[in-house]
Amino acid sequence: MRVFRHLCATATSRVFLALLAAIALAPPLYAVSPEDGSADVPSAVNHPMPGRDQMLAGTPSTTPAHSHVGMFVADSRVLLKFPPQMRAHMLNNMRDHLATIDGILRALASDNYDGAAKLAVDHLGLDSPFSAACKPRPANAGAPAPRSMDEMMRMYMPARMRTIGLAMHTAASDFAVVAAHAAATHDSKAAVEALSRVTQNCVACHASYRLR
Ligand code: HEC
Repeated sequence: MRVFRHLCATATSRVFLALLAAIALAPPLYAVSPEDGSADVPSAVNHPMPGRDQMLAGTPSTTPAHSHVGMFVADSRVLLKFPPQMRAHMLNNMRDHLATIDGILRALASDNYDGAAKLAVDHLGLDSPFSAACKPRPANAGAPAPRSMDEMMRMYMPARMRTIGLAMHTAASDFAVVAAHAAATHDSKAAVEALSRVTQNCVACHASYRLR
């Protein structure tokens, strides 16, 4: 007790105790209320999560209810059966997608709107090579190149997946227009908003399909 009184007596200890109390009483970071815009999340993202439903039903779980680490969650995503070289090609494209989003965010952070627009056009937009497999084959297109990777991708991808892919590439082209406009207006909010319409489609597809 004397030690406690001594602790409380010093100014530094009082600050320390106040900090501890603040940490203990602070609301958890993940306590998001419905007013926070979660209603804007596309429906594909709000897919049922069996692990969460089990928890709500009170089924015992082997891990603490608040932990997502190591929790068993049934995977409801559709498993795609792609040949190995197509799989490697797609994942390679995916890593480029992520690097592009990263580059765009850094460009936006330094007010380089033209740079952000160019990255979107070259790597994600409808005219970029990465969009070929998601685009419908033009009616006047000649015979596909034998064993062309894009042609194979088009064949193996479920129609709905191609639709989401096309929506992502379209949103990227739209973002490029908004970003180029922001070079004059410096309206970074509009640019970030347009970029989030791209990433919403990344999220929607990832919520529905898997390769392994
Ligand atoms: C049309 C569907 C679709 C879209 C759109 C899409 N992805 Fe993917 N992506 C996938 C699938 C399927 C996988 C494999 C996931 C798995 O097997 O668990 C994947 C995997 C990835 C990976 C892992 C790569 C690796 O080497 O393992 C990254 C990173 C990624 N995507 C980023 C993105 C980003 C960023 C976007 C948006 C700009 C995006 N993806 C848009 C379908 C998509």
